[in-house]
Amino acid sequence: MEEDRKRWNKKYSEGNYLTEVNKAVVEYSKLAKGKNALDIAAGMGRNSKYLVEHGFSVDAVELSDVAVENLKRIKGLNVIQADLDNYILEPDKYDLIICINYLNRQLFPLIKNALRPAGILIYETLMRGEETDKLHRNPLFLVKPGELREAFNTLKVLKYNEFIDYNKNNQSINKALLVAKKNI
Ligand SMILES: C[S@@+](CC[C@H](N)C(=O)[O-])C[C@H]1O[C@@H](n2cnc3c(N)ncnc32)[C@H](O)[C@@H]1O
Repeated sequence: MEEDRKRWNKKYSEGNYLTEVNKAVVEYSKLAKGKNALDIAAGMGRNSKYLVEHGFSVDAVELSDVAVENLKRIKGLNVIQADLDNYILEPDKYDLIICINYLNRQLFPLIKNALRPAGILIYETLMRGEETDKLHRNPLFLVKPGELREAFNTLKVLKYNEFIDYNKNNQSINKALLVAKKNI
């Protein structure tokens, strides 16, 4: 955990991060029926900021000190500095949960529990595949094809897509996107 914190602090201090809001967040956050949202591993806040600006009341959970300092500058955002390896999500709290470019399999059951009935989950992250293999990423931090859909199969899948995207260095990467809704 300490290693992760330092690594992310360094990356962020060097200005090495995405600033544009994630497309799936823009497209699918509209599906949420209420305004309580959670941004898991919020980073420098590109997605939290968008949600706050669109009327959501957002809890942003993040480990990196540099990121947390930046998140605190977003007016109206509830910033929680925590290690998601030991963080318990409050059950039945959120109308929308987003998790973008972060994988922590321990959280899967907690995410399902933290959604309110009809709550929306937007989960997009790196996937194993030809493109990500070239970048020699640790496969532990990549979902397998189909894994997200399978992991959340008790939710109603609204959209599932495996696709090629580009990272901040313009390298192509394999990704998976799941948008799902908790049953009422
Ligand atoms: C690739 S970034 C994604 C940031 C953000 N979701 C976005 O899409 O811009 C991954 C984030 O996970 C955070 N992170 C890594 N391990 C964590 C942990 N154990 N607890 C909380 N945050 C963690 C890092 O600090 C980093 O900000």
